[in-house]
Amino acid sequence: MSHKRVAILISGGGSNMVALLDSMRGDHPARPCLVMSNDASAGGLAKAAERGVATAVVDHRPFGGDRAAFEAELIKPLIAAQTDIVCLAGFMRVLTAGFVGQWTGRMLNIHPSLLPKYRGLHTHARALEAGEREHGCTVHEVTPELDEGPILGQARVPVRADDTPERLAARVLVQEHALYPAVLRRFAGGMREPLLMP
Ligand code: GAR
Repeated sequence: MSHKRVAILISGGGSNMVALLDSMRGDHPARPCLVMSNDASAGGLAKAAERGVATAVVDHRPFGGDRAAFEAELIKPLIAAQTDIVCLAGFMRVLTAGFVGQWTGRMLNIHPSLLPKYRGLHTHARALEAGEREHGCTVHEVTPELDEGPILGQARVPVRADDTPERLAARVLVQEHALYPAVLRRFAGGMREPLLMP
């Protein structure tokens, strides 16, 4: 069987990345080919290297606001690694329509809210401020609009009366680590129907 080759893009600690890497074993239809970050200090890079996965860094800062020039560099390691599927996992750079268009139907993102609610940042605080009784996370296909694109899976988390953004984020993150690997496995096997976790 020929495995799909998965590249994971991160900006930080990479706990979702670890969950994805550790899932791609055995009868999983995909294998990791690359972990890449826009920040050389991203904690996830060492965790990928420990697992024997190739890593790359393309620092966005020398490019100033020139997103297209940054992305022209970002795409080189992805092509060199013969990437089939790109997983954004806490990758905190906005990608242009030009870049996204090259990965249509082949790029996933995890977002810490029940999309279409709370696109963008500070999702947990905003959900609490709005008095939501339920929050969660979403894996979706990436399209040019921020945090849009077909939903591939969601996991729901009840909000507690004594929640803070930090406590709620921690419980959502546990669900992210279950949801993202489950969705990737299905996606790599050709399934696009949304996976709805309780
Ligand atoms: C995760 O909660 C992810 O959903 C979120 O950043 C965190 C990364 O954690 N992503 C976004 O906010 C994307 N806009 P990790 O580096 O430990 O996986």
